[in-house]
Amino acid sequence: MNKTEGKKRIDKLRQEIDFHRYNYHVLDKETMDPFILDNLKSELFKLENDYPDLITPDSPTQRVSGEVSEKFQKSTHSIPMISLFDAFSEIDMYDWQERNSNYLKRDFKPNYYCELKLDGLALNLRFEKGVLMLGATRGNGKVGENITTNIKTINSIPLKLRIPKSQELKDIGLKSDEIEELFYLIEEGIIEVRGEVVMSKKTFNEINLRNRQNDKAELANPRNAVAGSLRQLDSKVTASRNLDFYAYDIILSTDNRILERGEVIRKRDVADKLAGILGFRILKDNNVCKNLEDVFKFYSKVEEKRDNLPMEIDGVVVKVNDLKMWNVLGIVGKAPRYMMAYKFSAEKAATKLHDVIWQVGRTGALTPIAVLEPVKVGGTTISRSTLHNLDEIKRLGVKKGDTVIVERSGDVIPKIVEVLKDLRLGEEKEIKTPNTCPMCSGRVEKTGDEVAIRCLNKDCFAVNLRSISHFVSKSALDFDGLGPKLIEQFIENGLIKDASDLYSIKKEDLLSLERFGEKKADNILELIRKKEEASLSSIIYALGVRHVGQETADLLAKLFKENNHKNNYKITDISDYFSKLDEEELEEIEDIGPKVSSSIKEYFKDTGTQK
Ligand code: IVH
Repeated sequence: MNKTEGKKRIDKLRQEIDFHRYNYHVLDKETMDPFILDNLKSELFKLENDYPDLITPDSPTQRVSGEVSEKFQKSTHSIPMISLFDAFSEIDMYDWQERNSNYLKRDFKPNYYCELKLDGLALNLRFEKGVLMLGATRGNGKVGENITTNIKTINSIPLKLRIPKSQELKDIGLKSDEIEELFYLIEEGIIEVRGEVVMSKKTFNEINLRNRQNDKAELANPRNAVAGSLRQLDSKVTASRNLDFYAYDIILSTDNRILERGEVIRKRDVADKLAGILGFRILKDNNVCKNLEDVFKFYSKVEEKRDNLPMEIDGVVVKVNDLKMWNVLGIVGKAPRYMMAYKFSAEKAATKLHDVIWQVGRTGALTPIAVLEPVKVGGTTISRSTLHNLDEIKRLGVKKGDTVIVERSGDVIPKIVEVLKDLRLGEEKEIKTPNTCPMCSGRVEKTGDEVAIRCLNKDCFAVNLRSISHFVSKSALDFDGLGPKLIEQFIENGLIKDASDLYSIKKEDLLSLERFGEKKADNILELIRKKEEASLSSIIYALGVRHVGQETADLLAKLFKENNHKNNYKITDISDYFSKLDEEELEEIEDIGPKVSSSIKEYFKDTGTQK
């Protein structure tokens, strides 16, 4: 993308992000999934990083999120509660490390402290002389809301700091003078502990169940649930929500000086252990990683166990472990250089649709496949997704060049669920339906009320390949050991044209093929021979006749058996029989209507002995 195109895209992204921000924060209407909004913000951030002179103070990337409510007293933070930059891939993480190296003008590959990124609400706790005096939300980053009364209902927040034993501090690596200073700060100074208030998945589900039963609106996610629970005027409501608090930062001050990072406590992992000693909950998964490769291992491990954790997390926060470096690296824009939120990819993502290609299926149907800008959805990178058929393209109103939302649910292949039409620049192109088959250039046709366009060429290589591949596949006759590659080789070499030809393959035919020896040929023939005895209805199903599923196949098998009194049937016997039946005879069977009968007729019309 050149700078002019970049500028156009940046303008569109800003408009779109701002529109949904306004709806959500001012009108209380969620008009875009927060994950998708994050995607767009991250694209905007990358573009602004490529063209820094296009950054404007009103860009959504310059915002520290959060508003201060009038309901509570305001509280100014001793140092601002800033935000974090987001990374979504290993490449983003390497880029971050490189940016820091460039900034420091030296190779910078530090140890990192990796923490779970809890999905709740940030809270600042202020302990004066060891006693909890204030609890405040982040608010707009500079000024938050004083919610001290409410946070005192959270049982994992100590109302006064635990006084450690010297030995405990020695054990985490503090030196005698540091221990002495720390005791002074706990007893006489000010210690601010920042962290995340979270609601367990269990409580969240219980509240939503109750809301459903009482016809009340359900809470969108645990984060919103925490915010709602903390901003209650009646603390009893907060108390009933069983909230938890986990510490992720400690700021030390005397009554007239905030200590620099790295003073007294030199490492982030030590600060985390100290929080535990002072009486806070800490996460036992948090860990020091020697390099980015170790960070990636940590990330994968956490992603795997994510569903089994009691609370929601949305990634890992990767922090430079040496706290002195925090001062050196400092802050840029809205977030620090010394840490990064390495987020899990959502089950949904926004990406660009570059092109549409048409794939020929086993029944000759042409399926549109979207070629996408690669994007991570639910942990895997996808670059293709099905658009199903023409109706789906019409329904979505999608064009080439559009920004689309792809979604995956469970193990299902990802699909395009929405088009972000407001991001169009006017350069998007209509998706044209093909006039000929992309495989064989044969004629294609859309018949009757069908949604699919089909290749009409009976000998279309792609159609044959797919129909035979279906025949041998696990869901049909399961010729374990005879995959699409071999089928392709057989068709290319003229051994077979349809599934029934499989049964007339001879050993010498196989031996004439590349990479075929005696043993391999014998194995394949044995496999085919065994499958000749497969049940009649599975063979009929495996033929892949359009509209003939397993149940219709059972009905056809019954009809065949009533009229053919043999013990063993060959596929050619089946073709022979059905090619001679007419549609009326087929429709005499209960449950078979004109659509199915004409499809059966169509399939068998060129088969049988007259072939
Ligand atoms: S450090 C500069 N560590 O994520 C902010 N934040 O997306 C320093 N969060 O506002 C935050 N878990 O509320 C840090 N282990 C963790 C965290 C964490 C969750 C939240 C935090 C922050 C938000 C940024």
